[in-house]
Amino acid sequence: MADHTLEIRDLHVAVEGKEILKGVNLTIHTGETHALMGPNGSGKSTLSYTLMGHPKYEVTQGEILLDGESLLGLSPDERARKGLFLAMQYPVAVPGVTLYNFLRSAVSAVRGYTEAARKAGNNRLNAHLIPARAFRQEVNEELAKLKMDKAFLRRYLNEGFSGGEKKRAEILQMALLKPKFAVLDETDSGLDIDALRIVAEGVNRLQAELNLGLLVITHYQRILNYIVPDFVHIFYEGRIVQSGGASLVEKLEAEGYAWLEAEVA
Ligand SMILES: Nc1ncnc2c1ncn2[C@@H]1O[C@H](COP(=O)(O)OP(=O)(O)O)[C@@H](O)[C@H]1O
Ligand SMILES: [Mg+2]
Repeated sequence: MADHTLEIRDLHVAVEGKEILKGVNLTIHTGETHALMGPNGSGKSTLSYTLMGHPKYEVTQGEILLDGESLLGLSPDERARKGLFLAMQYPVAVPGVTLYNFLRSAVSAVRGYTEAARKAGNNRLNAHLIPARAFRQEVNEELAKLKMDKAFLRRYLNEGFSGGEKKRAEILQMALLKPKFAVLDETDSGLDIDALRIVAEGVNRLQAELNLGLLVITHYQRILNYIVPDFVHIFYEGRIVQSGGASLVEKLEAEGYAWLEAEVA
């Protein structure tokens, strides 16, 4: 499998005129698992949205490079097509759009069906979508691996989903979109231990299958017992203040985040 590199270089980001990220540097290679840990409000989700190209997050300085090529001018769907995926901390509900239709549209866009139909001027119904039969089979296989019921596919996206169901739906998307790099933003929040195991198993399996580069954002140690990081970065007030191996997780668990204030000052 080819190796790829995602490089975040001196990234500064403002939201509504206020600087939130203050010089983030981080390089992730495919196959690696990086954990990003930090207290609430330190800017972790800001980093994940900025990576995906959310329009509200303004890059005022620095670069995001995929294999040396800047992503900054690209829209979120273009970034997805380049191989970036974000599992959101708070997946939104979309009443009226079934999980099945959402997944089929997303997969069709990321795998180029949508653009091919547009370029060919093919306006037939569903010409822009991956063929239903093949897709249905693929989805069913992934559902089974995630121990999700087929009935899910007919439900509206995230509408009334439990915390665990939302997170499994995110991992299902990831399995189908087959990214190079995935950012999991607090994927552990709201999961009981069984759901956490299933989600973590899914992530580990996909990492092995796809040679994924993973950025696991969390403020608890728990998920890192199941998705074991190669590198741990501590995030505080908009930047990485310390990096190390898995032993950093234990330090955080034992001492919390309070020591950071003294250290950074
Ligand atoms: N869309 C937004 N609008 C206004 N402020 C925001 C927005 N997103 C983030 N912020 C602010 O940026 C800071 C960091 O938030 P966030 O990135 O969510 O941190 P974390 O994920 O580490 O808890 C907070 O002070 C938050 O209020
Ligand atoms: Mg967050």
